[in-house]
Amino acid sequence: MKRLTVPRIRQRKGGEPLVMLTAYTVRMAQLMDPHCDMLLVGDSLGQVIYGLPHTVAVTMEMMCAHGAAVVRGSYHAAVIVDMPFGSYEASPEQAFTNASRLLKETGAAAVKLEGGKVLAPTVEFLTSRGIPVMAHVGLTPQAVNILGGYGVRGKSDVEARSIVADATAMADAGAFSIVIEGVMEPIAIEITQTVACPTIGIGASAQCDGQVLVTEDMLGLFERTPKFVKRYGAMSKVVADAVKDYAADVRARTFPTEDNLYRADEEK
Ligand code: KIV
Ligand code: NA
Repeated sequence: MKRLTVPRIRQRKGGEPLVMLTAYTVRMAQLMDPHCDMLLVGDSLGQVIYGLPHTVAVTMEMMCAHGAAVVRGSYHAAVIVDMPFGSYEASPEQAFTNASRLLKETGAAAVKLEGGKVLAPTVEFLTSRGIPVMAHVGLTPQAVNILGGYGVRGKSDVEARSIVADATAMADAGAFSIVIEGVMEPIAIEITQTVACPTIGIGASAQCDGQVLVTEDMLGLFERTPKFVKRYGAMSKVVADAVKDYAADVRARTFPTEDNLYRADEEK
C-alpha cells in the first residue's frame, strides 16, 4: 500500500476525518499502521518512554531514533515527527537545520512544531524549502514553564482571540495541518471553519477534521486519565497479569516445561 502523502492529507479538509495516534516504537507502529492516516512521533515520548516530568528535556537524538523506528514499522500512514523544544525557536535557519536532519535521519514526511504568530515566518521558511509543517496551537506543552501547567486554554475572550490568530497565522504561513490542543470547544470549531487546512483535535472538538490521542493513554497503559482521553483498552492490567503469572511460574518451577526445552533426542 502506498503511503499517505502530505498533499492527500490536505485534501481531506472537511472530508472523512483524519485518524492520528502517537507512535514511538517499531512494533506499535506495525500494529497501528493499517488503521491510522498519520502516526505522530510526539515529544510526549519524554513522559511516555523516558519518564521525564515534561517535554522540555526531549532531545533531537531521541526524536531521530524513535522517528526512524516508527518509519521502519509503517507502510501506509504518513509519519510526522515533533521538533523538540529548543530545536526551532531561535531562527528559521536553526529550524531548517534541525527539521532537515529529522527528515533525513528518520524518513518521516513532515515535522510538527508548537507555536503561533511568532513562528509563522519559520513555518513559511520551512515549507518554501521542502519541509512540510504541521502546527500545534492552544495548549502547547513545551511552554509549560510559561503556562505553569496544562490547564485548558482560551477561557477568556482575549486568550481565545489570540489562539484563533495563532492558527490562522500558521495556516497562512503554509502549515499543511494544525493540531488544536486543550481549548474551549467554540475556539476549535471557529478555527476549523476558518482555516483551509485540516485541523486535528485533542481535547478540542469532534468537529475538527481529525483527532489525535497519546496511544498509551487510550490503551490504558498510563493511569492518568485527563477528561479528553477515552480509554479503548486496559493494557496496564494485561501487562501486570502476564508478568504476575510468569513470576508465579518461575517461583513454582512450573516454567519452563517440556515444550520450552531442548533435548538431545529432538529432531529440530
Ligand atoms: O507529543 C504529542 O504526543 C503531541 C500530541 C498530543 C498532539 O504533540
Ligand atoms: Na508534542
